[in-house]
Amino acid sequence: MDSIITVRNLTKRFGNLVAVDHISFDIEKGEIFGLLGPNGAGKTTTIHMLATILKPDEGTAIVAGHDIRKEPKEVRKKIGIVFQDITVDRALTGYENMWISGKLYGLRGKELDTRIRELLEFVNLLEWKDVQVRKYSGGMMRRLEIARGLLHEPEILFLDEPTLGLDPQTRANVWSYIMRLKKERDMTILLTTHYMDEAEKLSDRVAIIDHGKIIALDTPDGLKNMVGEDIVYIYVDPRSLRIGFFINKLKEIIGSDSISFSRNMISLSIKNAPDNIPKIFLLANQQGVRITRLEYTRASLDDVFLKLTGRRIRDEEGSFRDFMRARLLRFRRRR
Ligand SMILES: Nc1ncnc2c1ncn2[C@@H]1O[C@H](COP(=O)(O)OP(=O)(O)OP(=O)(O)O)[C@@H](O)[C@H]1O
Ligand SMILES: [Mg+2]
Repeated sequence: MDSIITVRNLTKRFGNLVAVDHISFDIEKGEIFGLLGPNGAGKTTTIHMLATILKPDEGTAIVAGHDIRKEPKEVRKKIGIVFQDITVDRALTGYENMWISGKLYGLRGKELDTRIRELLEFVNLLEWKDVQVRKYSGGMMRRLEIARGLLHEPEILFLDEPTLGLDPQTRANVWSYIMRLKKERDMTILLTTHYMDEAEKLSDRVAIIDHGKIIALDTPDGLKNMVGEDIVYIYVDPRSLRIGFFINKLKEIIGSDSISFSRNMISLSIKNAPDNIPKIFLLANQQGVRITRLEYTRASLDDVFLKLTGRRIRDEEGSFRDFMRARLLRFRRRR
């Protein structure tokens, strides 16, 4: 396979902070590559260096055959970028926004007009072309920005958090355009996100970035296999006398070596939860422990992040259950 982006030891410092810390990876032509990480991980800084907006302090990258340090102008011709924050001009119409950008790229006249119409058609905004952008929804603005990023027919598109702050339905709608770009236009896409579902749904491969470092890189399935285990939450009646015995037996029978117990919930990680759940009930019955509720979750990209860092990508989503899950995975990681 041909690499269209080759990143080697790319590094950016802001004062004492190493925002991007010697990262290296390759992106293949036609691939959607996801950079997944929490706030402040270094995603935007990485994209800005690859788009030649920021100069690296160390390392470099070859983007569509050109070195970002030595040939930034050549690189810019080959890439389109959609910034994290909305940058279309709300006072102008969709068409006017496209026209101005086209001019900046040196396009003009009939050629520019044709291209604008074709791209607005692609993102389903042709009917809205003469409407001021302030009247667009968030999803429509995003689609307009994607169309604008394609005006000069780039080989690579950088999307920095393309669905940040959009509602779930609109996000799914934007995803469909991103998938069409790959399918119909063979576009190579580097996207950043802190949404696990987005990384998983769109990306052929995902690099997980944290504190400026890439801590894992694989296909979404490959990453999930790293965790490889499901988590089962067993809620028991706290009046059951033999909970301690039950837990010890669970360890023996299920072969799970990571079990934790708090309040009335036992959590354990095991391979293939569905096959093991009948055994858990049988054992509880034998020990006279009453199970009041049982739930399980299959491994997710968030679990991979948790296993590697001991934190969740979105800490604010932490509930008691999340807390237990974190404790469990942290425990496993240390062993
Ligand atoms: N111009 C700057 N000056 C100083 N520090 C900066 C600058 N730009 C970014 N940083 C810091 O560098 C780190 C990485 O920032 P970056 O914007 O790349 O993260 P991110 O992964 O895109 O996060 P977010 O989810 O907030 O978009 C953060 O700690 C940020 O505060
Ligand atoms: Mg960012």
